[in-house]
Amino acid sequence: MRDVKSNGCLLSQVGVGNSRLQLDMAQEGYTSITSIDYAEVVIYQLQQSHQQYPQLQYEVADARSADISP
Ligand SMILES: C[S@@+](CC[C@H](N)C(=O)[O-])C[C@H]1O[C@@H](n2cnc3c(N)ncnc32)[C@H](O)[C@@H]1O
Repeated sequence: MRDVKSNGCLLSQVGVGNSRLQLDMAQEGYTSITSIDYAEVVIYQLQQSHQQYPQLQYEVADARSADISP
């Protein structure tokens, strides 16, 4: 079975809101998780809060038009 935690595997979370899922996954060893939300304030707060987790990326994007392919 492919190791999805490492080997550069990319995961995307759409409409992150105040979810902790991406943080829990980073702490479990996942290496690249991109979370998007169209609310700028949500993304700004998460970027500020999780600066110490380089495996977490946050982007302001609308899922209806964003390219979220890995
Ligand atoms: C219920 S909240 C957060 C849910 C979160 N994923 C969780 O499981 O706790 C939904 C979030 O989705 C975002 N959202 C809704 N429609 C969206 C869209 N088209 N593109 C990006 N974000 C969207 C909202 O801004 C909001 O932060």
